[in-house]
Amino acid sequence: MINSAYTPPLDLIRRPRRNRQTPAIRALVREVRLHADDLIQPIFVKEGPGGAEPVGSMPGIERVGLKGLFAEVAQLSALGVRAVALFPQIDPALKDARGKYAISEKNWFFGLVRRLKGEFPDVLIVADVALDPYTDHGHDGVIDPVSGDVANDETVHVLTHYATRLAEAGADIVAPSDMMDGRIGAIRDELDREGFTQTSILAYAVKFASAYYGPFRDAIGSAKSPQAPALDKRTYQLDPANIREALMEARLDEDQGADILMVKPAGLYLDVISAVRSATTLPVAAYQVSGEYAQIQAAARAGWLDLEKARDEALLAIKRAGADIILTYFAKAVAESLKKG
Ligand code: PBG
Repeated sequence: MINSAYTPPLDLIRRPRRNRQTPAIRALVREVRLHADDLIQPIFVKEGPGGAEPVGSMPGIERVGLKGLFAEVAQLSALGVRAVALFPQIDPALKDARGKYAISEKNWFFGLVRRLKGEFPDVLIVADVALDPYTDHGHDGVIDPVSGDVANDETVHVLTHYATRLAEAGADIVAPSDMMDGRIGAIRDELDREGFTQTSILAYAVKFASAYYGPFRDAIGSAKSPQAPALDKRTYQLDPANIREALMEARLDEDQGADILMVKPAGLYLDVISAVRSATTLPVAAYQVSGEYAQIQAAARAGWLDLEKARDEALLAIKRAGADIILTYFAKAVAESLKKG
């Protein structure tokens, strides 16, 4: 047996392990880190003051009414998370094929945005712009009766109106997630015409037709019915195989005036995040979606993964790929553990 004391050292100029010896040197050479400033917490909201309801497929996530929302946002901002993305769950009785309630004066969601802004003026409100919470079929837009497909231009027309009402209610950032052609330009025009020149647009520029949105659709009730086959959004969301097309979408949204470009989902599309990062000078966001969250939670619950380590590794990978901003259901938990140090 070789006694290591007598092993002559290898003649190595590079010993990468020197930079990994201690926590201090590892921290010194770390290339990217998680920070509460970069995180946006998505929150599911429901009408009225009522108590929180758990979302079955997303452990730790609840749908909250106004009171619960205020409590949640207070905690988040104390932890340094100063941006929230709101998704309303609309009563099925208020839904129809055209999603008309979205732009109704009576839509309670506008009132909720207004009250949240009043209570927390410094917290950024990101409001999702799409019709899926409001349509009884769960698609992001209006269906053309002839083709049976989502009608592009008509949907854009409704969404520009919806986005403007959200800006008026106090949303700092509107986030079109519908993937219709031309919606960023149309929304920018309308916002400017109505005097909302300072309202930002976070474009879901690169949104893939993903199976990983399943738990979200449960959360807001856009999945049609539990028995129905999974909603097929492939005529507007991107084919997961296509990166060149993804880059074209990113360029179009940049040219139409988007302030931030987003890639979604995140963890399965690190190459796309990296390519979008290189193709633009705009801030790049990535959305770690409900299915990515559920996957980590499920494995951790089964005792197969360490929750915090798997979570942080997934988020760090998204940062390393080039995302400046991450929407993640883990935002609060991450901010809590960063605070603890
Ligand atoms: C719909 C929308 C979806 C998500 C955000 N906005 C789902 C979909 O396109 O069906 C998914 C987010 C998530 O899964 O966490 N406009």
